[in-house]
Amino acid sequence: MPKKIDARSADWLQGDYFFRVARRAFLEQGGTPPHLLDGRPIIGICNSGSDLVPCNSHFRHLVEHIKRGVFEAGGLPLEFATMPLGEQFLRPSSFLYRNLVSMQVEETLRANPIDGVVLMTGCDKTTPALLMGAASCDLPTLVFPGGPMLNGKFDGRNLGCGTSLFEYREKLSAGEISQREFEESVTSTFRSAGHCNIMGTASTMACLVETLGLTLPGAAAIPAVDSRRAACAHQTGNAVVDLVKRDVRLSQIVTREAMIDAIRANAAIGGSTNAVIHMQAIAGRLGVDCTLDDWDTHGSDVPCIVDLMPAGRRLMEEFYYAGGMPVVLKAMEAMLHRDRPTVTGETVGDRLEKVVHADQTVIRPLDRPIKKRAGIAVLRGNLCSEGAIIKPVSATRRLLKHKGPAITFETIEAYRTRLDTVDVTPDHVLVVKNAGPRGYPGMPEIANLPLPRKLLAAGVTDMVRISDARMSGSASGTVILHVSPEAATGGTLALVEDGDMIELDVTRRRLSLDVPYDELDRRRRRWRSPAPEERGFVKHYLQHVTSASTGADFDYLVGGSGSGVPRESH
Ligand code: FES
Repeated sequence: MPKKIDARSADWLQGDYFFRVARRAFLEQGGTPPHLLDGRPIIGICNSGSDLVPCNSHFRHLVEHIKRGVFEAGGLPLEFATMPLGEQFLRPSSFLYRNLVSMQVEETLRANPIDGVVLMTGCDKTTPALLMGAASCDLPTLVFPGGPMLNGKFDGRNLGCGTSLFEYREKLSAGEISQREFEESVTSTFRSAGHCNIMGTASTMACLVETLGLTLPGAAAIPAVDSRRAACAHQTGNAVVDLVKRDVRLSQIVTREAMIDAIRANAAIGGSTNAVIHMQAIAGRLGVDCTLDDWDTHGSDVPCIVDLMPAGRRLMEEFYYAGGMPVVLKAMEAMLHRDRPTVTGETVGDRLEKVVHADQTVIRPLDRPIKKRAGIAVLRGNLCSEGAIIKPVSATRRLLKHKGPAITFETIEAYRTRLDTVDVTPDHVLVVKNAGPRGYPGMPEIANLPLPRKLLAAGVTDMVRISDARMSGSASGTVILHVSPEAATGGTLALVEDGDMIELDVTRRRLSLDVPYDELDRRRRRWRSPAPEERGFVKHYLQHVTSASTGADFDYLVGGSGSGVPRESH
């Protein structure tokens, strides 16, 4: 007879009640020998890998290393899968399904005999989706990031996922390379399993999760196919059992102090703008007070000290060899909350005690940054009363203060169709509507709109672009994104017409539409909201998704329901 333990899984598995006896038999049916049903902690392993998520395809062997570590530490691992949430294939956008997967994770954890969990994360949305779900259940939780793919190589150059794709797309558009060369560059980019190898959204989220204290030290940067990644998986399995024994919950690690440190770290690594929307959603699940303005207040003045694409020149492999996040955090130690806890029981300060900042080329000291003031700026004005964001360091300096006439497009499809036929100058402001959470729906990464062919051919490299969409973490330019309220809810963005003057002043954090109030009011009365969706998940999404400025979570998912044991069903 298994001994009783004080864990939630005991409520399913311990004792003489007939169905608990049956449940132990069901675990044996799955191949678990009876001697492992002795009341040891049960560790859920949430595996987001799949053939439909090539970035996470190596999880099928890494999960075995996590299991070994769990067994070694005296736990019993039970793996479960999530809906594939990859960037490569999902239409209309992977973001549409982030909240859905978070619900799946939350309900799976709560409904099953699980005492603690390892989240296997990698491709962009997998990190926030899994973390949001786990946050609402609030079990002892450790994150295992799957790691970046190897450096891409083409024509003697390092190729960064996305960043090089956009660069070569523009070369193709400008007639500088052939279609064959373009295709070769693309296939040379993706050399191994692992998430994108630049400081895009996946790398950013992995680095921020490490900053929060939810991974083992150094876990974010180890390449996906490096043997040390497998060793890290094993050690993660060890650590989660210890975490369960200490009963340290996710909410004890992800505090406001941890969020502020993550905001600062996002600037220091030259992180993705997508981090804003995902971290806001995670904070919302935990009830952590963190607003859009915190990103500007605490992060905008922090310098970027990591020389990685898209802000710099290098890729994640070099970042790993230079020491990864422990070295970044060491360099910015003075601005961190050193006394806050991490999953290993050490404080942030403890973790940094022995870190040496040896190589100062890839990761620079704070006083010799790649770029100064590298964080997110939050804009306000009549065009974005709930806020919009821009990453000034990725923009063209002279465009940070700009006034120009709008050219408007009702959808991204209209933009693609009409772009090369409109009468456009470099001073125009390109405006795309209906690409927000509700408008698209699912807020795609289209905000870094490609420039008109004729301007590219004339040597123009940047223009002011505005939308309610998101932007790929691999992109750059004078791009204003996440405009809230979005056009599809009747935000002022919906009312912009061709020729209206738009004024951007990033120093003053202003984004204004220069149209008289009466005229805007007249247009607003004419505006009609899009027809409602008839059925299915998209209908549900449209009814419940909130504004980008608060994380675009579902209204009823904000907060958590804890890890209480649901009632017995048999
Ligand atoms: Fe998966 Fe970039 S496509 S991280």
